[in-house]
Amino acid sequence: MIKSDMLRYSKSVSSLRTSEIRDLMSLATRPDIISFAGGMPGNELFPVEEIDEIYNNLPLDIKQTGFQYGPTPGYPPLLESLKEYLKKKGMPVETNKLMITTGSLQAINILAKVFIDPEDLVVTENPCFIGGISAFKSYQAHLQGIDLDDDGINIQSLKSFLNQSKPKPPKFIYLTPNFHNPAGTLYTEQRKRELVPVLQEHDLMLVEDDAYGELYFDEEARKRVVPLKTLYENELEICYTSSFSKIIGPGFRLGWMLVPPEIYQKAELCKQSMDACSPNFTQVLANEFLRSGKMELYIKKLRIIYKRRKDTMVSAIRKYFPEEMKWAEPRGGFYMWVQLPPKVDIMSVLQASIDKGAVFVIGKTFDPEGKDNSHFRLSYSNTPEDEIEKGIHILGDCLKEALKPSR
Ligand SMILES: Cc1ncc(COP(=O)(O)O)c(C=O)c1O
Repeated sequence: MIKSDMLRYSKSVSSLRTSEIRDLMSLATRPDIISFAGGMPGNELFPVEEIDEIYNNLPLDIKQTGFQYGPTPGYPPLLESLKEYLKKKGMPVETNKLMITTGSLQAINILAKVFIDPEDLVVTENPCFIGGISAFKSYQAHLQGIDLDDDGINIQSLKSFLNQSKPKPPKFIYLTPNFHNPAGTLYTEQRKRELVPVLQEHDLMLVEDDAYGELYFDEEARKRVVPLKTLYENELEICYTSSFSKIIGPGFRLGWMLVPPEIYQKAELCKQSMDACSPNFTQVLANEFLRSGKMELYIKKLRIIYKRRKDTMVSAIRKYFPEEMKWAEPRGGFYMWVQLPPKVDIMSVLQASIDKGAVFVIGKTFDPEGKDNSHFRLSYSNTPEDEIEKGIHILGDCLKEALKPSR
């Protein structure tokens, strides 16, 4: 056996913060704890019966196809039905190429592999989805996080950073304009419009992550979830990613990218070396779910349930949290992002809250530099309403305790 300190790990793996995700997931699944930690749907919400019925009614040869390897870019009938679905939403499916990936995290990872060399710069929002941070760091990128406000990424901060990085420009910018993870932000149309000339001036490619766009709670939000990929296809270079995880189930491990043909060619090569193809089994099922119209009905149901959970969390926060907390009401998605008053030690709040039976995620998890703990994330997506009320009560008491002047 080689001693562990003699193992010659790569630089890229040494820079990863994998343990945080792992710890997080293990807390989120402890049975006795009310978890606001995991960014996942509730098990009780999955369309188990619909999928049972689909599988049982499949012809034998299609079932067998499901067990087999498939083409790298995806199961052709699913590519077709997804293309139709996206076309109806106005997405530019004719001038771009669609690829099915193993979760949208793989789409992000592939794009990172296609573009990033060690020491390259990538711009993200701050906060940023932890999976994006890890994917970019795994190719040894330097990340520059730019502040988010209620309307989207801060344009002034972005401009000044891009001006100062002209000698070595970033490879791309990664944004989640719809129901951001963790911030919950839904970009305004104006903020998206303001972004265009900035990206054009700096020839900056956009990786647009739209994992949550389908999960809007009201009519105005529905109008605002139109992706930049749809609005500004002719003005910008955009690689768009999305996922079946939040609209069927993450266990399917299916996502997709819609990208310009040149980029698609490189991405396909990368995917070949990663996993050859995404699971054919779940692609067969997803295709039937989508094609039959069952998916749209299911998403409609999800929107109602997640909105109810969000409403319950918001009213519990109003009831139990100290007034000093700042937060915005989400208009879709899974998350609330709560700002603490200065000098509150969030680690001790987390510890106390876990002891009493509720868990959440501290802010620095989502800071590309891993430092800023001025916020925390609450997810309402996989917690039934009575538990939300109970858990927020626990957390509210812990926050009030932490705000008491020390004796
Ligand atoms: C913003 C965002 N993008 C991408 C993903 C990746 O999801 P998946 O790989 O399951 O499609 C997630 C999952 O939580 C997410 O929050």
